[in-house]
Amino acid sequence: MEYILIIGAKSELAKSIADIYASKGYSLYLSGRDIHSLSKFSDTLTSNYDVNVKLINLDLNSYDTHEAFVKELEVLPVGIVSATGYYPNQLKAQIDNDDMLNSITSNFTGPVSLINYLVEEMKRIKKGFIIGISSVSGERGRKKNYIYGSAKSGFTTFLSGLRNELFDYNIHVMTVILGFIRDGSETNSIKKMLSAKPREIAELIVSNQIKCRNIVYLKWYWRYIMFIIKNIPEFIFKRIDIK
Ligand SMILES: NC(=O)c1ccc[n+]([C@@H]2O[C@H](COP(=O)([O-])OP(=O)(O)OC[C@H]3O[C@@H](n4cnc5c(N)ncnc54)[C@H](OP(=O)(O)O)[C@@H]3O)[C@@H](O)[C@H]2O)c1
Repeated sequence: MEYILIIGAKSELAKSIADIYASKGYSLYLSGRDIHSLSKFSDTLTSNYDVNVKLINLDLNSYDTHEAFVKELEVLPVGIVSATGYYPNQLKAQIDNDDMLNSITSNFTGPVSLINYLVEEMKRIKKGFIIGISSVSGERGRKKNYIYGSAKSGFTTFLSGLRNELFDYNIHVMTVILGFIRDGSETNSIKKMLSAKPREIAELIVSNQIKCRNIVYLKWYWRYIMFIIKNIPEFIFKRIDIK
């Protein structure tokens, strides 16, 4: 049975991705902090589909556990989905080093550390895929969220280099540049219009992975929005306040 590992499996988006892969016959490693809170969800997956689901505790802040985490996987996964993230309050993260470091670990250095260990094993079997969920916030730094944004930016660049390296190993790396996930708290109509439900995003992520896409903006219009934002001259950009 082939396994897919989801890093940071507790969000609605990650659970939808898990459900879709399970429906396609993949067994799952669902990882994250306090992961046994997903027991009911895991039982639903195993009763709906003929798959195994293993819940594995993982705190990305505990770097010294990452190597053992990978070594202890009974079966090496053929697919990895990195769905972790932490979006801090920017003003708090500017003065609270722990909060700032949490964001950088959850979005960037934590998944990079774990993926590095996984990749060393996957290179031996020369197949598989890695999906990294990044963000439009990583495309250009702005005052609203540049700590989160710079961590995502680092992750996007890591995925680009990894895709280049793993091409020769038949391991496909897909970067997801995500806009807004709709969570029901959208107060303005533009944000609501630009957001998409977790299930819809999950379906697009899996269908694009199956097509071996490299960089996917979700939804598609974010590619054009970010093209415009990235091309605003810096002497103008530094004066404006993009929400
Ligand atoms: N929400 C958006 O509009 C949006 C926009 C662009 C990109 N994204 C990205 O899309 C992905 C999913 O977003 P979301 O809003 O659905 O996420 P979310 O609900 O905030 O979930 C993030 C997940 O990451 C896990 N996580 C955070 N720090 C961790 C750590 N140190 N160790 C282990 N797990 C950790 C969380 O676990 P705990 O439950 O234990 O905290 C949670 O399961 C993230 O990569 C996010 O950055 C989201």
